[in-house]
Amino acid sequence: MPGIVIVGAQWGDEGKGKATDLLSDRIDYVVKFNGGNNAGHTVVIGDQKYALHLLPSGILTEGVTPVIGNGVVVDLEVLFDELTALASRGVDVSKLVVSANAHVITHYHRTLDKVTERFLGKRQIGTTGRGIGPAYADKINRVGIRIQDLFDENILRQKVEGALHQKNHLLVKIYNRRAISADEIVEDLLSYTQRLRPLVADTGLLLSEALDAGRTVVFEGGQATMLDVDHGTYPFVTSSNATAGGAATGSGIGPNRLDRIIGIVKAYTTRVGSGPFPTELLDESGEWLRARGFEFGTTTGRPRRTGWYDAPIARYASRINGLTDLVLTKLDVLTGLERIPVCVAYEVDGVRTDEVPVSQSDFHHAVPIYEEFPGWDEDISGARSFDELPANARNYVLAVEAMSGCRISAIGVGPERDAIIARHDLLG
Ligand code: GDP
Ligand code: IMO
Ligand code: MG
Repeated sequence: MPGIVIVGAQWGDEGKGKATDLLSDRIDYVVKFNGGNNAGHTVVIGDQKYALHLLPSGILTEGVTPVIGNGVVVDLEVLFDELTALASRGVDVSKLVVSANAHVITHYHRTLDKVTERFLGKRQIGTTGRGIGPAYADKINRVGIRIQDLFDENILRQKVEGALHQKNHLLVKIYNRRAISADEIVEDLLSYTQRLRPLVADTGLLLSEALDAGRTVVFEGGQATMLDVDHGTYPFVTSSNATAGGAATGSGIGPNRLDRIIGIVKAYTTRVGSGPFPTELLDESGEWLRARGFEFGTTTGRPRRTGWYDAPIARYASRINGLTDLVLTKLDVLTGLERIPVCVAYEVDGVRTDEVPVSQSDFHHAVPIYEEFPGWDEDISGARSFDELPANARNYVLAVEAMSGCRISAIGVGPERDAIIARHDLLG
């Protein structure tokens, strides 16, 4: 059972690193298959806290080979800064492998991300401003720069000039910014080639051979189902496939190599940036969840929007990803609530619907229908088996499980690496 996918089942920040950690001593490779440094993973190991943006959280596990797949967009400055920072804290980063086909994020992508957001005005997406959307747009427009292009200066120069030709017209004539010089971009990119060369490989081949040899490979998704460019709340999404299908296309292995698909959900819901969010709480309960759950972005520091658990979204994520397991994180954050509402369905224009509406406008004014469950006061952060949880916490988990379309195989009860209750073996 060696191919395991981990995806966010809500709007991100579910604690995806928790699931990777749970499997850590049995993993050989961990692959990032989508997104870039828009991701933010906080991982707590002992008294050490690590904030990762571009690298998969599995890089913190000794002996694991981290892989950046072809589906990723790579900001080289961020990559080398992150590697240097981890190495200075004693993390072995020497095994990292980067796909020759991954695209690079350059200065002009970051600039365009910021100016287009500004021009969208009220319709802005609230991107992380890291150049993610423009880099993927170039990839789809076939004017992107790939990692392999950095090793042929001639080709690199031609491609950068080609990409900038149209962009400089846009920047100068539409956005009133100064033109970007192709020479500066080329020079900047070339400054990384020496350090990059030993890391670059045909990662699709490497991973297929690893799977053939019976190695365990974890495909760690960035972002989440509801931020997926095809299946999320478009246009308030990121620009890649964050759902399980992206694990195959974003890493170059066949979809039949994916044996287990694990979705991560919080015991409540959060979202960063704009877009619909039916269970959002704009009152003091939302403030309470934000403070208790410490819901501030790892990448941008923005306060996250907070709300109750949304079962139709969990069911949707189970279906779209083909989830085999759910990991429910941050159950400890709900401790102290008298009653805990869970959204079981929506009402759209007076009609009950159990599914996430396909129409954007319907989803925008979907009103949650809540069922309430009794809360608990006991500190659950020390619980390591399901039976150690108070009865009301167990009931909450079982109720949420029954509504979510997938079994809950593990439960997070604190930020630390070992603060987790395993119910079903994620590899067995
Ligand atoms: P990711 O983007 O899915 O990797 O998640 P983030 O790292 O952005 O956000 C998850 C946050 O929740 C991190 O600060 C984790 O340390 C923390 N966390 C993960 N699992 C738990 C849990 O079970 N309980 C609590 N209290 N915190 C958790
Ligand atoms: P992790 O991996 C939460 C959101 C942004 C914005 C939208 C588009 O930590 O779960 P982008 O910069 O990708 O073009 O922004 O997507 N977003 C995330 N929200 N967690 C993330 O990653 C996110 N990555 C992007 O806030 O609304
Ligand atoms: Mg995050």
